[in-house]
Amino acid sequence: MSRDNSSDKPWAGRFTEPTDAFVEAFTSSVGFDKRLYRHDIAGSIAHAKMLTHVGVLSRDECKLIVKGLEDIQLDIERDEFNWSVSLEDVHMNIEARLIDRIGIAGKKLHTGRSRNDQVATDIRLYLRDEIDLIAAEIKRLQTGLLDLAEREAETILPGFTHLQVAQPVVFGHHMLAWFEMLKRDHDRLMDCRKRVNVMPLGSAALAGTSYPIDREFSAQLLGFDGICQNSLDAVSDRDFAIEFCAFAATLLMHLSRFSEELVIWASAQFDFIELPDRFCTGSSIMPQKKNPDVPELVRGKTGRVFGSLMSLLTLMKGQPLAYNKDNQEDKEPLFDAIDTVRGSLRVFGDMVPAIEVKRENMERAARSGFSTATDLADYLVRNGVAFRDAHEVVGKAVRLGVESNLDLAEMSFEALSQFSPAIKEDVFEVLTLQGSVAARDHIGGTAPAQVRAAIQRAREAR
Ligand code: ARG
Repeated sequence: MSRDNSSDKPWAGRFTEPTDAFVEAFTSSVGFDKRLYRHDIAGSIAHAKMLTHVGVLSRDECKLIVKGLEDIQLDIERDEFNWSVSLEDVHMNIEARLIDRIGIAGKKLHTGRSRNDQVATDIRLYLRDEIDLIAAEIKRLQTGLLDLAEREAETILPGFTHLQVAQPVVFGHHMLAWFEMLKRDHDRLMDCRKRVNVMPLGSAALAGTSYPIDREFSAQLLGFDGICQNSLDAVSDRDFAIEFCAFAATLLMHLSRFSEELVIWASAQFDFIELPDRFCTGSSIMPQKKNPDVPELVRGKTGRVFGSLMSLLTLMKGQPLAYNKDNQEDKEPLFDAIDTVRGSLRVFGDMVPAIEVKRENMERAARSGFSTATDLADYLVRNGVAFRDAHEVVGKAVRLGVESNLDLAEMSFEALSQFSPAIKEDVFEVLTLQGSVAARDHIGGTAPAQVRAAIQRAREAR
């Protein structure tokens, strides 16, 4: 990136000395906002066409501008564009190049526009595209979860509360819990999109413009659902980006919880799953190690997305209307959140369908830890015992089990029945894991039949 003479600056007219070299670098945003180039060009083309439509530009001028901007886009994409720090940002870089190329017509592009409405428009266009890509990635991960849930609809593992064995559940049910969280994340994203896809262009610097603009015309060209109704608000607020980061923070919070489970399950102590080698790395000193880096890193990256949300909230809270240079600080946190969300979803989308489930180990873990104790209590209730009394009876049976190192299903009938006359020979039917999960046979329950029905409903709703 080069530093040109300060007299190149379009606003240099009222200045008597060049910008301090460090200030120039300090205030420049082109290093990070150049990623908006496609949307900046699309916005400029729509603006030029609108100005032509209302008679401010001639058709010939419009043609030159459109062609010039398209050529610049090609240059950028071929990496033949010389970005200049002294031209501050993506907007002035592209405009200055356009003027170099096409002369006087290029100087007319900025009629009735300001960088303030330009940048707000660019960010919204860019974010809209990213939202659509992210939405597709969420769906892909959800598809992976549904397939895995279907494959493992009968696989029993212990469900946990307090990370202590609680009750048996099927692995498919567990995967559907993650599916539900992602579904709400997707809903939040789509809701956010409605407020992103509104056009600031036409607000100019802050007050609107004296040219006879047709904002609906540009909005239609750019695919906006509507136009911002107040010019001061349109150039200054970034609540749409804050909303996106709130979505992103919630999504990463979910992926981080998911990651935590994968890390625990992949440990030698749990040994519930195997992550394929291509998603793991080794240790430079300990030859035996295979580390679950991908989920660990996603868990770790969650912090920076929370940070983006906090940065943007703090960025906005002290700003008087309308645009302030503070707003230039909106981009890096937003871009970082977008990149982190996309990377995390991509790697999860690839990894989740490849998770290898160790069915025997999961089932063995569910068989220890008295996971069917609640089923025994429910059995006693069905045989006429009040629930609180049943709870106490089972508690005593569990204590015997702990002392004799036997799970409930492993005890003899004589040992069990001493705790209550309501315990009959058929008690062992409810102490099996399969009986326990199958009994939870209602919407939202873990019975395999319910899990299959939930998968079907989820597929039909997509
Ligand atoms: N680079 C600026 C930004 O990111 C563009 C808008 C600048 N407007 C201004 N009046 N200085 O916000």
